[in-house]
Amino acid sequence: PPPVPQRIEEKRQAALLGGGQARIDAQHKRGKLTARERILLLLDPDSFDEYDMFVEHRCTDFGMDSSKNKYPGDSVVTGRGRINGRLAYVFSQDFTVFGGSLSGVHAQKICKIMDQAAMVGAPVIGLNDSGGARIQEGVESLAGYADIFLRNVLCSGVIPQISLIMGPCAGGAVYSPALTDFTFMVKDTSYLFITGPDVVKSVTNEDVTQEQLGGAKTHTAVSGVAHRAFENDIDALLNLREFFNYLPLSNRDPAPVCECHDPSDRRVPELDTIVPSESTKAYDMLDIIHSIVDEREFFEIMPTYARNIVVGFARMNGRTVGIVGNQPKVASGCLDINSSVKGARFVRFCDAFNIPLITFVDVPGFLPGTAQEYGGIIRHGAKLLFAFAEATVPKITIITRKAYGGAYDVMSSKHLRGDVNYAWPTAEVAVMGAKGAVQIIFRGKEANAEEEYVDKFANPFPAAMRGFVDDIIQPSTTRTRICHDLDVLASKSQSSPWKKHANIPL
Ligand code: COA
Repeated sequence: PPPVPQRIEEKRQAALLGGGQARIDAQHKRGKLTARERILLLLDPDSFDEYDMFVEHRCTDFGMDSSKNKYPGDSVVTGRGRINGRLAYVFSQDFTVFGGSLSGVHAQKICKIMDQAAMVGAPVIGLNDSGGARIQEGVESLAGYADIFLRNVLCSGVIPQISLIMGPCAGGAVYSPALTDFTFMVKDTSYLFITGPDVVKSVTNEDVTQEQLGGAKTHTAVSGVAHRAFENDIDALLNLREFFNYLPLSNRDPAPVCECHDPSDRRVPELDTIVPSESTKAYDMLDIIHSIVDEREFFEIMPTYARNIVVGFARMNGRTVGIVGNQPKVASGCLDINSSVKGARFVRFCDAFNIPLITFVDVPGFLPGTAQEYGGIIRHGAKLLFAFAEATVPKITIITRKAYGGAYDVMSSKHLRGDVNYAWPTAEVAVMGAKGAVQIIFRGKEANAEEEYVDKFANPFPAAMRGFVDDIIQPSTTRTRICHDLDVLASKSQSSPWKKHANIPL
């Protein structure tokens, strides 16, 4: 055999080529980058340290032990690197090697970097592009999935875990992304499903394409499985870099602070007139959010799903914050099943990773109807309530207009350990709107009752007089107030009774 240094070099070169030039070309032809090209785009230049380039699969069945069926590194590229100078662990499945399918060693390579990431306290980013379990390996491959799932669960709340789906992800493979904190997809080239169109046809007789069943549109607008979709591989990876900047490295790390050129005492005069005087008229909560946060930069999570609530990351005076807002533009900002679950999961992420929460409230209540009741709105709405109540990160709430009924309590109210709760002069904190209230208490018979009700409740005073809001503020000063509050609350320390874990309604 050739001398060792030469063999090392040959193996390295072979690993760099993955499944070979023809399959790389096929990958490009589909509009997809290779596993290595993706890593290079994701990480800072020259920062990638690769692990396990020499690992080969161990399967001997079906002729797999022949040298032409062995690829150094097998079907996944793993290692660590930096994103804007901050440490991240990455795995990138290589579709050119057995369709990126998951062999025992493929799983072992992923588990190795997950273990190390958890140990040092750094996020794991998975770039998924795989035909699923390595069929030739049988149960060894299934065991590999379970090893990854277990680590996903143990790492949950310890280090941020992000999945980017850049090709197929089917069968058991979907449960790793599902367990991670964020799942992003690439439009047109990625899909996620439990069983593919053929199985669906044979079991339920439905005709459905891959794209309809599990494409980016389905999961970002209908199922809520994915949190964002991007145009192509490059767009997705660049957005992932930007997203990463918002995240702490672990639950032991404070929320990151960036240099900020947007003055913390900047007034926002347009906010003084943004809420229409007519209380049934809509406005866009995103306009409020954009004008208050640093540089108008808001990284929205699930922008096309349950649009009656808005969630996402921004910065205030350079510090990462999580923002939750009712969206009066969609279904009047009512809370329903989907928006409760969307909001709850986001709030819990922020709480787990020390990211302060800023909540903008304009909510007429929970959406009525059989569809919601039969779907379990009580159980699902309770998730959002639970999430806000258990959160111990700094919590700042601004009631811009309606805060009605149980939804008032839910939306990070004072009663759920809100630290600073503001009302704008347009705030109306009440059990319900005037019309419905008068219908119930006077059966609609009392003239002037509606006027009396509006006078009494459709303003911020009842809440402010009881200390349920700390102050009624001029909307234009909101940014300044929040920045000051965050400075003070940076040293907040709060705990809850000891428990093994809570039992959030599921
Ligand atoms: N195990 C082993 N090899 C696999 C594989 C798997 N799960 N999935 C794909 N491959 C191999 C293919 O044999 C093919 O090998 P080749 O290049 O030597 O011909 C290569 O990966 C590319 O697959 P191909 O089917 O040509 O690509 P495609 O883009 O047309 O289809 C899939 C991609 C994922 C839809 C298709 O490969 C597939 O259905 N795979 C099986 C999925 C599955 O049921 N997995 C088990 C469930 S967990």
